[in-house]
Amino acid sequence: MSLETRTPVIEARRICKYFGAVTALEDVSLKLYPGEVLGVVGDNGAGKSTLMKILAGLYPPSSGEILVEGKLVRFNSPKDARDMGIEMVYQDLALAGNMRIDENIFLGREWVRRIGPFKFVDNAASLRHAQEHLNKLKIEVKSVRQRVEELSGGQRQAVAIARATAFDAKVVIMDEPTAALAVKEVRKVLDLIKDLKQHGIGVILISHRLDDIFYVCDRVMALFHGRNFAEAPLAETNRNEVIGWIMGNKSPVAQAAKIFDLN
Ligand SMILES: Nc1ncnc2c1ncn2[C@@H]1O[C@H](COP(=O)(O)OP(=O)(O)OP(=O)(O)O)[C@@H](O)[C@H]1O
Ligand SMILES: [Mg+2]
Repeated sequence: MSLETRTPVIEARRICKYFGAVTALEDVSLKLYPGEVLGVVGDNGAGKSTLMKILAGLYPPSSGEILVEGKLVRFNSPKDARDMGIEMVYQDLALAGNMRIDENIFLGREWVRRIGPFKFVDNAASLRHAQEHLNKLKIEVKSVRQRVEELSGGQRQAVAIARATAFDAKVVIMDEPTAALAVKEVRKVLDLIKDLKQHGIGVILISHRLDDIFYVCDRVMALFHGRNFAEAPLAETNRNEVIGWIMGNKSPVAQAAKIFDLN
């Protein structure tokens, strides 16, 4: 089946976003298919994070539409988006350092046990389900009882991804997940993204690192000054062309001139 005949798991249509006098996004559209990894690139301030925050329910768009599996939706909060299977891993991760790994994974959605009129957090269930979930994602930690503040940057990123995928996520949006990581940890996070893809989850990856984009993505789209600028399946483009897009340059000749300083 060609991509075009399938229904995108999430779609943005002609999204505009204004912050006072600042236009962050102007008529931006995006489609993501199930099991697809879409790279989103663009210069600082191009509008990438703003677009993702709109898809994740953090900001309302000024205008435009969002569809999940073909149905028009309106998110009033990140919870609305999560309830529809749209999860975002924020750049600052939003994990609680002084809590255990399992508590972070289930934060706000704890395992509870009822005894008569009383509700208790079910620690045993939390630890067991957290371990099972980490196993499924092939994430290794010493113990799910460890506090997040004891983990390395890469392990924290993995826990944040585990949190995003603990409850039937259809889409996981990641904003610069590898920016602060050492090489070995970068590879682990990217392999985790490949794993999510294998489970049919759609992933949107924002990254300034073209190595990441070319290692893991199926398709790449570039924003420039808050607008759609270019996009292509990865197999039909190359690093130099994508660097050109980030700089707002589509002509291959002009692009080469810029990269090799021929002018
Ligand atoms: N909460 C906000 N209030 C006002 N302006 C904002 C807000 N968030 C973003 N902007 C503006 O919107 C534009 C797009 O910002 P955004 O953070 O989406 O860019 P980005 O592509 O993620 O950049 P970077 O690569 O640096 O993270 C910028 O001009 C920014 O200053
Ligand atoms: Mg950003």
